Amino acid sequence: LFGHVEPAPKDPILGVTEAFLADPSPDKVNVGVGAYRDDNGKPVVLDCVREAERRIAGNLNMEYLPMGGSMHMIEESLKLAYGEDSEFIKDKRIAAVQALSGTGACRLFADFQKRFLPDSQIYIPTPTWSNHHNIWRDAQVPQRTFSYYHPESRGLDFAGLMDDIKNAPNGSFFLLHACAHNPTGVDPTEEQWREISYQFKLKNHFPFFDMAYQGFASGDPERDAKAIRIFLEDGHQIGCAQSYAKNMGLYGQRAGCLSILCEDEMQAVAVKSQLQQIARPMYSNPPVHGALVVSIILSDPELKNVWLGEVKGMADRIIGMRKALRENLEKLGSPLSWEHVTNQIGMFCYSGMTPEQVDRLTSEYHIYMTRNGRISMAGVTTGNVAYLANAIHDVTKS
Ligand code: LMR
Repeated sequence: LFGHVEPAPKDPILGVTEAFLADPSPDKVNVGVGAYRDDNGKPVVLDCVREAERRIAGNLNMEYLPMGGSMHMIEESLKLAYGEDSEFIKDKRIAAVQALSGTGACRLFADFQKRFLPDSQIYIPTPTWSNHHNIWRDAQVPQRTFSYYHPESRGLDFAGLMDDIKNAPNGSFFLLHACAHNPTGVDPTEEQWREISYQFKLKNHFPFFDMAYQGFASGDPERDAKAIRIFLEDGHQIGCAQSYAKNMGLYGQRAGCLSILCEDEMQAVAVKSQLQQIARPMYSNPPVHGALVVSIILSDPELKNVWLGEVKGMADRIIGMRKALRENLEKLGSPLSWEHVTNQIGMFCYSGMTPEQVDRLTSEYHIYMTRNGRISMAGVTTGNVAYLANAIHDVTKS
């Protein structure tokens, strides 16, 4: 019956973790998946999460959440993305549901897009997180790409991006990374975001923000929402996928939120009901534990402060590792410029290494990373940075 089923190709990111786990070498280093590690290379559970879990213990029942998830978690998520005093929240113009982290939020939106705007396409930046392509492919939304990264400068291709926005048909859907672009670590400046927003307005494009790293770009979730706030000020309707995987370290809890800013409350009610209808046959209703953790942390000012401090701590450790990696490469006398290691922001460094150089890192040094040359800086530690720099120098020097 299933004889014709071929093995699926390995996932370019999660496949790296599988290969890392299978390697018995004591020297192995995983800078593949974007998952935060402390300076000993260990996964971290934040203090605010531990405290939220302490409060949950004993009080939690295991009842189903509604199809749209926890209202409390949704309300707190909207404040985080749209602003504490957002008029759109007050006016009930936002259709929002709890989602299975960022992936689930993007997928719900893609399915919604296909169902209600079946002739639309999605414009996706080049490059982007590899799973974005899978998500819109499986939702059967045709994909187009827009320029984003400039390989020579290892920075933003702003002119190319603006051209592609101008040349797209009016009313196109664009996927934008709200902050800490994955994989490049390159974000538009505030001024550039304003220009992008202005151009979107002229073209009547719809911006869908994937905000998987709120807090990881600047260390401050409020500042990292700037791009979204600019689009809101300019009067756009937007969509937004939020994830608590990285900024609360809730990776496996699959805690996230999908929101769509509508024209009025009535529209928001209709849109939300349709999002729930899409969720029901897929997973019925979302998991309860992560939602409770998120809502407890965000609704208690004291605990929220602990969280803000911890997000900043994670972001700062990564910035420290960027400096250390660059310094080590320069000390080794690398003939290449490694300025971009410290210029780029968020969890990733888009190193510029070729797939072949990455393959050598893996086969000769047991260093695991994605073949597009992306280094998860969250996996770099004071203990492995010299080893990593030495290996990178070796494979890039000639
Ligand atoms: C990543 O880009 O490494 C993360 O977003 C994890 C994932 O699911 O791919």
